[in-house]
Amino acid sequence: MNVVIRPDDASVTEAAYALVRDRLANRHCRVFGLPTGQTPRKLYSAMVAGYRRGELDFDTVQTFNLDEYLGLDAGHPGSFRHFMEVNLFAHVNIRSENIHFLDGLPEDIQAECHRYEWLIRECGGIDLQILGIGADGHIGFNEPTSSLASRTRDKTLTPRTILDNRGAFANEEEVPRWALTMGVGTILEAREILLLATGGSKAEAVAAMVEGPVTAMCTASVLQMHPRVTVILDEAAAARLQCDEYYRWMNENDPHLAAYLDARRQRYGRHTQPGNAS
Ligand code: GLP
Repeated sequence: MNVVIRPDDASVTEAAYALVRDRLANRHCRVFGLPTGQTPRKLYSAMVAGYRRGELDFDTVQTFNLDEYLGLDAGHPGSFRHFMEVNLFAHVNIRSENIHFLDGLPEDIQAECHRYEWLIRECGGIDLQILGIGADGHIGFNEPTSSLASRTRDKTLTPRTILDNRGAFANEEEVPRWALTMGVGTILEAREILLLATGGSKAEAVAAMVEGPVTAMCTASVLQMHPRVTVILDEAAAARLQCDEYYRWMNENDPHLAAYLDARRQRYGRHTQPGNAS
């Protein structure tokens, strides 16, 4: 796991944007898994601004959103589909047929979840999965005790998640109790994962994810098993990490490692790639 600590929210967005811009420039990186929430909202504004500056092109990009509330139609202002339209899709040149969502009003829940899993495979799998993290350590809507091998399915939300997500609704009562979500196993199949967390309310979950045991009580902790994960945090979200000094040291030294490997490559003509910090 490559843990990057930045001073504040704005520099987290900057670092995340740089990674996304780099991956989007690679024609082999076409399928993106996307989250909703306040944390990625700033990244999406940066992506819209980057598109307007001519830095990003979404023409051949496919997207799969992580999750959707059950019982809401796509036009509902609290739906994740609506969130994505308002914050990203309406402002960039993504093709509507390349935007993939779980249907919040499916006739048959199981068939809908199978369709989504099938479609992800049909598109060649997810190249870059972007994630936020819930205060209880969930990714997608994989609440504590979710199977670490789970696939896309329906999930009952915890009272805390309902409370945390009430912002898009008139009151807590209106927040749906259920959702469809990619499973932990589905998320783990992405080729690369970028997780963002900001603010003190995420500090405990971040520490459990990065340094705690791999446990279904914090589904994000399973990312320790993935070979290519970057976690970008602000100081507040990193506050409970025990090895934070090492992560900072690593971030400072990584460019020197890249330069050292480059020099060796030039000298010996070998193809020496820096590993990542996983
Ligand atoms: C919801 C979403 C998650 C998201 C989490 C945190 O539970 N299903 O994907 O990571 O909220 O959101 P925020 O960034 O608003 O704290």
